[in-house]
Amino acid sequence: MIGIFDSGLGGLTVAGHIRRLAPTADILYFGDRARAPYGPRSAEEVLAFSSEITRRLLDAGARVIVVACNTASAAALHPLREQFPDTQFVGMEPAVKPAASHTTSGVVGVVATAGTLNGALYESVVARFGSGVTIIGAACPDWVDLVETGDMRTERSAEAVARCLEPLLEQGADRIVLGCTHFPLLGDDIARVVEGRAGIVDPGPAVARQTIRVASRLGIDRGDGHLAIQLTGDSRGLDAVIELVGLANPEVAVISGSA
Ligand code: DGL
Repeated sequence: MIGIFDSGLGGLTVAGHIRRLAPTADILYFGDRARAPYGPRSAEEVLAFSSEITRRLLDAGARVIVVACNTASAAALHPLREQFPDTQFVGMEPAVKPAASHTTSGVVGVVATAGTLNGALYESVVARFGSGVTIIGAACPDWVDLVETGDMRTERSAEAVARCLEPLLEQGADRIVLGCTHFPLLGDDIARVVEGRAGIVDPGPAVARQTIRVASRLGIDRGDGHLAIQLTGDSRGLDAVIELVGLANPEVAVISGSA
């Protein structure tokens, strides 16, 4: 079984790509909505939540863990690999590398949470792949909430998205990296602002391909195609997101309180 987690519904964008590549893989998705957003929280807190959720997914039978959250990957990926040395992890990192190699203006914008932009992982990605290119990070604090409250393709989401993206475009960015797994769900709002001005870079498909490589090495890329979704908090807005990312027939459980 492939275990996937995020602070909320955003990681379902990654789950959707995984499902497309491996239609019969068994997937257990955990969204920690009761404690979302993770972005403004300390790295220590996000690590504690991530360890707890990893333990839960492993106890349920997951053999590979996809940290489908940039904020949790930034805070927890290295420590998780140390804490669970026998477990295979696949994490997210802002896709600065492809953006830097395709920009013609020499300016790349990265939209992410504050937690991701302040972390060492982002610093290292920029240092490794951003030489000769201007990388501008923008924390878009309300975008995660917009998705969690189902506020997509609305006047409010259009305004919030434009407010964050316009300064990047005005500074010449011709590539916008989606550094948060919630953000592809605002794809229509984002496309309306950047159309003809910049390309969007989403690392989700590459992370899904990496997950399938690991899963097939472990022999768990084929199963019954079962999809279970466990959420803390509630399941508000889940159906709309499931449909947007192309997932079908999930068995949904809402778990009260924290993980
Ligand atoms: N999907 C998470 C990410 O990729 C959202 C973080 C949050 O909860 O603030 O960073």
